Amino acid sequence: MKRALIVGASHSLGAHLARGLAERGWSVVGTGRRPAAEVPSVHTFEYRSLDLSVPGELQPFLDRQDGGYDLIVHNAVSYGRTYRGQGTGEPHLAELETLFRVNALMPYQLLHSLLAAQPADRFCSCVVVNSDAIHHANRHSGAYAASKAALRVLTTALADTFRSGDSSVATLLLGPLADPQKLADLERLAKRHSTGTADVARAYLRKANPSYVIDDLIDFESCLRSVEYLAGLGRAANGMVCKLDGGSSGSLV
Ligand SMILES: NC(=O)c1ccc[n+]([C@@H]2O[C@H](COP(=O)([O-])OP(=O)(O)OC[C@H]3O[C@@H](n4cnc5c(N)ncnc54)[C@H](OP(=O)(O)O)[C@@H]3O)[C@@H](O)[C@H]2O)c1
Repeated sequence: MKRALIVGASHSLGAHLARGLAERGWSVVGTGRRPAAEVPSVHTFEYRSLDLSVPGELQPFLDRQDGGYDLIVHNAVSYGRTYRGQGTGEPHLAELETLFRVNALMPYQLLHSLLAAQPADRFCSCVVVNSDAIHHANRHSGAYAASKAALRVLTTALADTFRSGDSSVATLLLGPLADPQKLADLERLAKRHSTGTADVARAYLRKANPSYVIDDLIDFESCLRSVEYLAGLGRAANGMVCKLDGGSSGSLV
């Protein structure tokens, strides 16, 4: 049975990836911070606790690894205080440091350690989930976008570090997802304006970014299929950026 690790599997996209891979016959380990009782479909995979904001949690987590993985998906993220319009845009150093630690520095260390410890005879596809936010920062998204941009660069460093090993390291760069929070917000708006959720989603996408050429939010199943595609490419996926982003960075990038 193939083994997968999903970092950030306790909610939203990560939970979908963990359940979907388990349903397709993978043996899945998934991580998160919330208690298991709050994790959707937790019975379908092995749930382990990991908080990337706490450096001391990394080594005990690494010490529990046995035998390596065929697929590692790094999906965990912190959006920080300002991304979703909460709080002021005033930057606090401690918050910025935590954002960079969770979104870029700890993932780099974690993936580096996991790939270095892979058994020589086990090929591992590593997929790092990133965001189209790296292309358009504003006062709300700047800190989050910069941390994901750092992750994007560090992902290439990992691809280079392990290029001659039995692994590939690719980026799955996503645009606006149909995540539970966004769906709830759109449904609320649709109710208020007595219209359909699909109409509100279309209007939202046109307003959010004029470069989008999609009328629907990106569904989780397409993300899962993209992960499977990247894993199926084997070595050829090393250094690859797979963009499922609604065309958000424009046609020339
Ligand atoms: N949502 C979008 O529209 C969108 C668009 C483009 C790209 N993306 C990317 O897609 C991925 C998934 O996004 P999402 O919106 O589904 O994320 P999410 O709902 O916020 O959940 C992400 C996961 O990260 C975990 N997490 C949060 N803080 C953590 C920490 N300090 N240490 C360890 N794990 C932590 C969460 O665990 P707990 O909940 O248990 O804390 C959860 O399992 C992210 O990489 C994001 O950048 C999302």
